[in-house]
Amino acid sequence: MTDYSIPRPVSGDVVDLILDDHRLFETLLREMRDSTADRAGARAAFADVLVAHGEAEEQEVYPRLRRRTEDVGEHEVEHGEEEHAEINEALLALLECVGTDTQKFDDAVERMNEVLQHHLTEEELTILNPAREDVSDDDRAQLGQKFLAARSEQLDQGCGSVENVQRLVDEARKEGLLGEDEETSEG
Ligand SMILES: [Fe+2]
Ligand SMILES: [Fe+2]
Repeated sequence: MTDYSIPRPVSGDVVDLILDDHRLFETLLREMRDSTADRAGARAAFADVLVAHGEAEEQEVYPRLRRRTEDVGEHEVEHGEEEHAEINEALLALLECVGTDTQKFDDAVERMNEVLQHHLTEEELTILNPAREDVSDDDRAQLGQKFLAARSEQLDQGCGSVENVQRLVDEARKEGLLGEDEETSEG
């Protein structure tokens, strides 16, 4: 049985911590693509760490970087939140798959791969690079601690449950972060 327990560091540089999670997402995505892996186990861990990470970024990292570096502005923050909403929508579809050996599951993994890789690339280029260049080591360590505290709190609350992800998607839709038109047309 594969161990998909989620690491819970308590301190670190916020940029490194975020990158570590991004690498973990990629590992778990690879597991979900592998028909011989425990895909349901990988999915459960993926949902928890993905939601905890995104919520912690929105609560503790994006707003503070906005104040600390000129290159992270309103546009970058809002764009990041829109992409988190899209990712949560893709996650909901993935969680709603009953079986993991179905075409529906494969399609949901493929869609997740698409939206997540796009977001990770953009976040690393437009948010983490300015943080690397403009934010001091001390501030990055402080941000790291805040990020981890928020992330832990989310994990303790079972943030990757289908109910919670549904709630996040509903909220995002109300806030206008998700387009009304369903872009996930069949096929
Ligand atoms: Fe991230
Ligand atoms: Fe993000």
